[in-house]
Amino acid sequence: MTKDSKTTLHLPNYQIFIGETLNFINTLISEKDPSKVIVLADHHTEESCLALLKDGGLKYDSSIIIAAGEKHKSLGTCEKIWQRLFDLKADRHSLLINLGGGVIGDMGGFCASTFMRGIPFIQVPTTLLSQVDASIGGKLGIDFYGLKNAIGLFHDPLAVLIDPEFLKTLPNKELRSGFAEVIKHGLIRDRSIWDKITAVDEWSDQPWQEVIYESLKVKQKVVLEDPFEEGTRKILNFGHTIGHAIESVMIDIDRPVLHGEAVAAGMIAEAYLSNRCGQLSTEELATITEYLKSVYGQIPVNEIEFDRLLRKMTHDKKNVGSSINFTFLEKIGASSINHTVSPEEIKESIDYYIDL
Ligand SMILES: NC(=O)c1ccc[n+]([C@@H]2O[C@H](COP(=O)([O-])OP(=O)(O)OC[C@H]3O[C@@H](n4cnc5c(N)ncnc54)[C@H](O)[C@@H]3O)[C@@H](O)[C@H]2O)c1
Repeated sequence: MTKDSKTTLHLPNYQIFIGETLNFINTLISEKDPSKVIVLADHHTEESCLALLKDGGLKYDSSIIIAAGEKHKSLGTCEKIWQRLFDLKADRHSLLINLGGGVIGDMGGFCASTFMRGIPFIQVPTTLLSQVDASIGGKLGIDFYGLKNAIGLFHDPLAVLIDPEFLKTLPNKELRSGFAEVIKHGLIRDRSIWDKITAVDEWSDQPWQEVIYESLKVKQKVVLEDPFEEGTRKILNFGHTIGHAIESVMIDIDRPVLHGEAVAAGMIAEAYLSNRCGQLSTEELATITEYLKSVYGQIPVNEIEFDRLLRKMTHDKKNVGSSINFTFLEKIGASSINHTVSPEEIKESIDYYIDL
């Protein structure tokens, strides 16, 4: 396996390769010599990604195909996956390849880690969101009892293989949603990412291989500093306290928005709070707001009652006690954790977003 420093990230128990995936997978299969190779995909990634790998000569024995979408990230789907694994006579030396977005990665990793007390798996993320975010950090799981990622575990894959080629079939809206996490990584830790991506005229024309690599490096550093989310890792929550609440209320009122769209709105509101509390300069707040608005436009947050949003924020599982926890930007490329603000200040930040 080649170990080019620009395409490889090393974590304690596994590596992430960015580039042409097929050779990596076939080499890994030859090296590990599993008893069976089984690919897990959804209907979309079967059509657009598995077809590509198959044409290129992927060595695998069987596939398990499930319906696409978050609503299938459930215990019911896991049962089907486990049953299929038994029907296919998978054993503890079989290998599962999770080919898809964050839903396939989280749920496939969860099923592999629990099947016969754990079989090896490879993550092959095919959405930008899963390539820069979900594929790193070891978090696996499913939604349960109406709660996102309520059941799961931390467990590492054998490897993560990222191919920017898969992004070519990804719907533009999904690409833009994942791009919000790239922007976040630049804002919280790495000014050079921000400078690079904002210098591109049309946001979707990014040099993806490089952007994915730089973005993953940010998450890698943070995850290594805090593998089990006890402190520093909270900086990754920037934009997500308000963003998650918006995402969740929009689902409740039947006006769903993509995760990244809600996080973009959350980043504007939380950048406002960072400025309001004396951390971020007014000039940088304006720069961030302008860029995010140009890429994401505006979500109709004015249609949501503020109390409803506040209730969602209060119930966020990342809070400690009753106070709502925020990550603030100090400047573009630097952030700090564990800030609290009053409900009135949160309301002001939502009004700032609505008045744009
Ligand atoms: N484990 C973590 O640390 C972590 C971090 C962030 C998000 N997540 C999870 O990730 C999930 C969201 O991930 P997502 O945004 O990738 O959603 P997703 O997996 O639902 O994929 C989005 C859509 O794109 C389709 N798709 C995927 N790749 C494609 C391709 N190359 N071409 C065409 N269509 C393609 C999928 O079939 C699906 O319809 C959530 O469940 C979230 O909880 C996990």
